[in-house]
Amino acid sequence: MTILVTGGAGFIGANFVLDWLAQGGERVVNLDKLTYAGNLETLASLQGDARHVFVQGDIGDTALVARLLAEHQPRAVLNFAAESHVDRSIHSPEDFIQTNIVGTFRLLERVRTHWGSLPEQDKAAFRLLHVSTDEVYGSLGAGDAAFAETHRYEPNSPYSASKAASNHLVRAYHHTYGLPVLTTNCSNNYGPYHFPEKLIPLMIVNALAGKLLPVYGDGMQVRDWLYVKDHCSAIRRVLEAGRPGEVYNVGGWNEKPNLEIVHTVCALLDELRPHADGQPYASQLSHVKDRPGHDRRYAIDAGKIERELGWRPAETFASGIRKTVQWYLANPEWVAHVQSGAYRDWVQKQYTAQDALQ
Ligand code: NAD
Ligand code: DAU
Repeated sequence: MTILVTGGAGFIGANFVLDWLAQGGERVVNLDKLTYAGNLETLASLQGDARHVFVQGDIGDTALVARLLAEHQPRAVLNFAAESHVDRSIHSPEDFIQTNIVGTFRLLERVRTHWGSLPEQDKAAFRLLHVSTDEVYGSLGAGDAAFAETHRYEPNSPYSASKAASNHLVRAYHHTYGLPVLTTNCSNNYGPYHFPEKLIPLMIVNALAGKLLPVYGDGMQVRDWLYVKDHCSAIRRVLEAGRPGEVYNVGGWNEKPNLEIVHTVCALLDELRPHADGQPYASQLSHVKDRPGHDRRYAIDAGKIERELGWRPAETFASGIRKTVQWYLANPEWVAHVQSGAYRDWVQKQYTAQDALQ
């Protein structure tokens, strides 16, 4: 048996592939375009492991996707591939439209054709799991109830609008064609191998480098944080037992304002790697211009996935953020290669064309 994972060289996809194989899951075909966010160095421990087949390519490449489906006959497709950074979507939305909307559409089309050709038993067992975000629901006021799956869509950035469009397409392929899809809308993830353009890893690497810690606006925007390995366990559970056509919200029950996050990171660094001159890391904090259209608050009601599938996060924020800071301190080479851009040469340096790219 095989699963096809897209975007499996990115932050969440790579954590998922590593966890999946560590837990004895079946073979993974990993299709990733290797944009700036794709990092094969994250998957270095799988080099030479026959259970992991990496293929560099685009989810929008219909011929390639058709070939992979025919050749590997996966029992499920898990779509992590996306442009994922809100700030980049504000500066240049085009790639977000191409990958998140057009790419998802083309992937759905190829999967639909493949699924339609399967024998009845395989057809019934097949799943397409689409990994999405709480940002499709827009922004909450301070006293509003957390996002349930029935909350109206109100995306506010080009990123969240493109993810909302992809969710609608996935839904339509179930409703119209009966494709057995599952959608997960998750809150903010953090943990190992997180690209340091996002809040938590950026604060850790900037703090260690003696740089400013840029907090947008007043820093009182609220996010609901989930340790990435808990997101991976939720996806495994939804794949295993989720009902086709359903949406599951995934969150950590950890609402925190950004300023608190930054102070927590600083306090952990003060404890684990204090500055030689005794200065607290928080002295590097700097309020900067706000993100345009910045959503004020996200909060996930993860009650459905708990009630129906028995999933709850294993980590508290305190335990997850400590593990995360410790991971960054223990992996300076991974960080340095991301910062220098050397991670992009990893394929050439570490793999031959035959054993890495097909
Ligand atoms: P990421 O940006 O770290 O990784 C995305 C991966 O997709 C990269 O490896 C990239 O090379 C690949 N990719 C991009 N375009 C592609 C294409 N056209 N074809 C094939 N591969 C392509 O993103 P992430 O943080 O790991 O997020 C993964 C998914 O989870 C995304 O769909 C995102 O919307 C969703 N999500 C992320 C978070 C979060 O906090 N990071 C939270 C909820 C949902
Ligand atoms: O909610 C889920 C989403 O979480 C995912 O769908 C996205 O893919 C993921 O990138 C993340 O989006 P955010 O915009 O919430 O994450 P980011 O890390 O970019 O920002 C988190 C908060 O921190 C947000 O309020 C903006 C703020 N911020 C961010 C950066 C990078 C700062 O104050 N300073 C910064 O330098």
